[in-house]
Amino acid sequence: MKMDIAVTVNGRKYQEIVEPRLLLSDFLRETLGLTGTHVGCEHGICGACTVLVNGDSVRSCLTLAVRANGAEITTVEGLGTPEALNELQHQFREKHGLQCGFCTPGMLITGMDLLKKYPLASDAEIREGLSGNLCRCTGYQNIVAAIRAVVDQQDGNAS
Ligand code: FES
Ligand code: FES
Repeated sequence: MKMDIAVTVNGRKYQEIVEPRLLLSDFLRETLGLTGTHVGCEHGICGACTVLVNGDSVRSCLTLAVRANGAEITTVEGLGTPEALNELQHQFREKHGLQCGFCTPGMLITGMDLLKKYPLASDAEIREGLSGNLCRCTGYQNIVAAIRAVVDQQDGNAS
């Protein structure tokens, strides 16, 4: 049995017929060709596969594509373009918030979620918010600095 699903991904509407067991991560990467969403652990630990579903960060490796039927999804491809990075991407570059880049899509999506929902007054809050995303290159300090820079800009006290 296959199912018909309709989703909006990065502002573009898609209608696809999928197997009920297809994971959202595989749907994004293989059905839609949006390979910016990375797959690491495949069981909800590393956060590399994080995407926004209706504005909330979600592990796409733990979500069935059919559960996203009707949803608005944002992947890393929807944040900015190489020519016009969004502010968080820009700060990741400025603060050297990435090394191999494997965790970066998930870090960016989680960062966008944190920036939208929380004041992030202290670096400890940023670290807690990122605690579900693992970076094997251990670049956490610079990732926190990138998010801090965006928070400071939003607060109007960037140095
Ligand atoms: S690949 Fe989904 S949490 Fe690791
Ligand atoms: S930059 Fe390499 S895993 Fe995070």
